[in-house]
Amino acid sequence: MTKKFYITTPIYYVNDVPHIGHAYTTIACDALARYKRMMGCNVFFLTGADEHGQKVENAAKANGEAPIELADRVVKRYQQLWEKLNISNNDFIRTSQDRHKQVVQDIFKKVLDAGDIYLGEYEDWYCTPCETFWTEKQLADGKCPDCNRDPHKLKEESYFFRMSKYQDRLSQYIQDNPDFIAPASRRNEILSFIKEGLRDLSISRTTFSWGVPVPGNDKHVVYVWFDALLNYLSGIGYRADDRMFNKYWPADVHVIGKDILRFHAVYWTTFLFAAGIEPPKRVFAHGWWTVEGKKMSKSLRNAVDPNMLVQTYGVDQIRYFLLREVPFGLDGDFSKHALIHRINSDLANDLGNLFSRVCSMVVKYFDRVIPKVSEITQSEKALIAKKEEVYLQLEIHMDALAMNKALISIFEFISAINKYIDDMAPWSLAKEPKKAGRLGTVLYAALDCIRVIALFIYPFIPESAVKILEHLNSNYDMSDINLKYSSNFGGIESGTKIDKPEVLFPRIEQKRE
Ligand code: MSP
Repeated sequence: MTKKFYITTPIYYVNDVPHIGHAYTTIACDALARYKRMMGCNVFFLTGADEHGQKVENAAKANGEAPIELADRVVKRYQQLWEKLNISNNDFIRTSQDRHKQVVQDIFKKVLDAGDIYLGEYEDWYCTPCETFWTEKQLADGKCPDCNRDPHKLKEESYFFRMSKYQDRLSQYIQDNPDFIAPASRRNEILSFIKEGLRDLSISRTTFSWGVPVPGNDKHVVYVWFDALLNYLSGIGYRADDRMFNKYWPADVHVIGKDILRFHAVYWTTFLFAAGIEPPKRVFAHGWWTVEGKKMSKSLRNAVDPNMLVQTYGVDQIRYFLLREVPFGLDGDFSKHALIHRINSDLANDLGNLFSRVCSMVVKYFDRVIPKVSEITQSEKALIAKKEEVYLQLEIHMDALAMNKALISIFEFISAINKYIDDMAPWSLAKEPKKAGRLGTVLYAALDCIRVIALFIYPFIPESAVKILEHLNSNYDMSDINLKYSSNFGGIESGTKIDKPEVLFPRIEQKRE
């Protein structure tokens, strides 16, 4: 039976301007989704936009628009960016859609009927930018402990979710399922948060109206996080399409940033407990990017626009850098210098040159015709063994969401091919006509390994991978390719013609500033 793989990004606040932090989560999910598809899984990859709440209502008011008009206008910033970044999501969920609002009301009612939601009064602090409730004690010198901005005091009637009831069950669940929160270093952080005591959670607001009305009491709208988290269910047809929902749920992984782990590991899991729905298999929290050593912030105006990066450096260059530079789970720093260094050394030098020099030798020594293999020697066998090893490493690393390690393994294979060429020295073989057979074998083996590299690296840099494959006359249907079979040695067709390729990854001059 085909395995399924359901992967999600967080849904992004619709009115925010997308920056590399958002692009990072989405690109990482895309690489995983593409890889799993190549491994024969039936993948559902969901992303979307978080559209409700006071922030959007206020922004719309200030613009003289209805909130939905604002949302319809700005949601395109994300949708267009995902297209530009070659994101292969299967759907894009918006919390303002009926299919989602229906699910929020259904689940709210289900939990209310089960007695885990009750009406009370909330009197404490609220940070609107983070959409988070805080107690006096939790504030850091009167500021929001997450974003350091000023919270405001709230006093209003509110529905509460009995989160306290699930405290023991949740910590037991986390201990019984060691893979549930990843990386492992984040588990303890969550366990100690739970140990401090889970309080019941306010899950409705009355002071604004842009949200999902509480069923039976539309003075209240549902708290944005309760609303937003449910996208993971509504996006795969909860209630609307049981077959689809049962096929994909539980999610295999929710990929998120470390700042929203608590919402996913604690709130989301307890909501699901209360609704009688299985929790996701895993929540993976990645680290945060700073820019040139500084935190990205509106006041510093230093948020890096992914559109600008793509235009300047190219889409695959950005995808590669973000996934290669930092181990997934740790924080990283985005600097132009590091980006250019990666592009020049890994993409231009190692991969680009390998591709160009092997193709050029076929053009030069075989008049563009891909040669035949005459006899496989120990050297080719060693190369094939390296390829097998990298295939297995990819499986391990991708299952652990260690995309940087997967890329390191692929580049080890690239180095091995480069070394093979240097050792075999085709330019010397070409000088001796009786070694034409050997020369053919060497160039064939190198070309075929480059084909496999393109397949291995496709999840990370799909556009360039397809360019390589097309150049080698290896035209696959990438939506229906099986990595295991396609990466067997011998896929390149001898006798077909290739040209000298254009430069895949132009070198970038590092300007002194
Ligand atoms: N709307 C909520 C998520 C609801 S999911 C049910 C939200 N949206 S967000 O737009 O603010 O953030 C979305 C993601 O972007 C988060 O995973 C967050 O960690 C990530 N990033 C935002 N800034 C980031 C960096 N500077 N670096 C890396 N990722 C960061 O939270």
